[in-house]
Amino acid sequence: MLPKVFIAKPIPQTVRDYLGKFCEFAMWDKERPINRQELIEQISDREGLLTTSLITRIDEDLLLKAPNLRIVSNISVGYDNFDLEAMRKRQVLGTNTPDVLSDTVADLAIGLMLCSARRIVELNGFVKEGKWNAQISEELFGLDLHHQTLGIIGMGSIGLELARRARNGFKMDVLYHNRNRKIVAEEELGVRYCDLPTLLAKSDFVILLTPLTKDTKHLMGYKEFNLMKHSAFFLNISRGETVDEQALILALREEKIQGAALDVFSQEPINKNNPLLQFQNVITVPHIGSATLACRTEMAMLAAKNLAAGLMDIQPPNLVKELY
Ligand code: DGY
Repeated sequence: MLPKVFIAKPIPQTVRDYLGKFCEFAMWDKERPINRQELIEQISDREGLLTTSLITRIDEDLLLKAPNLRIVSNISVGYDNFDLEAMRKRQVLGTNTPDVLSDTVADLAIGLMLCSARRIVELNGFVKEGKWNAQISEELFGLDLHHQTLGIIGMGSIGLELARRARNGFKMDVLYHNRNRKIVAEEELGVRYCDLPTLLAKSDFVILLTPLTKDTKHLMGYKEFNLMKHSAFFLNISRGETVDEQALILALREEKIQGAALDVFSQEPINKNNPLLQFQNVITVPHIGSATLACRTEMAMLAAKNLAAGLMDIQPPNLVKELY
């Protein structure tokens, strides 16, 4: 008998065909996302779960209600939904999908930097609202991206792809801050390691790419925004919780920084009354880092392969490092 699996969001047919060889599955195929209670009901007798980091936390309470669960495979690089201690205790494997999304997320980072620096979103509104009546004056000019300094906080494989684009495409100076030095990247790309205060003080664009952990929660607070240049932009493509959102709002109100571009928020979907939505100089997108059809299909297939391996008692290629 094939093991039973639950798939918590719709995935492409090719991935379903692949999974069908290894398990018997049911899939959530409604347009609205599944909620925690519905997920718990679905996995009460399942051995495998294919989900994403954004659906619900895999904690003690959930694991108690899914006693047969052996593997949770995330269709996301982030795995901040894993309660690692609870999973370790109950010997439930957890996997993610690194690398396959690095190019796609790095492309978005470049797009957001260009939109911020050249005011593309704001000026699109200007034209469409019929305000373009004469040659634009200096007050609507933007800033260059090329030859500016980019500060990358969190130099994993997304950071590396971003650094490559910034160095080779936009001739930028790249500083980075990370738990460990990345000597190969330093040699290959000429990026420079520095401590966080120095990176914040020197960069024209500061981009946060760290995973969310207890150490990175609110990594960017008022003190950190205060260290940035008044002319600099802040970008967050990691998780909303890595930023103290109230501190960011205050820093924007006090014009401590020039603007921000945000793919992630402390509450998703964002509350319609969130003050961040009021700023002309803040670009907001709905967590689209990896959201291209090709990338999401590749992520789903990798997650399916991780799941299939785990179900067959083979070590999955992307077992998260804390659960080895
Ligand atoms: C990821 O893969 O972690 C992206 O943020 C999508 O969840």
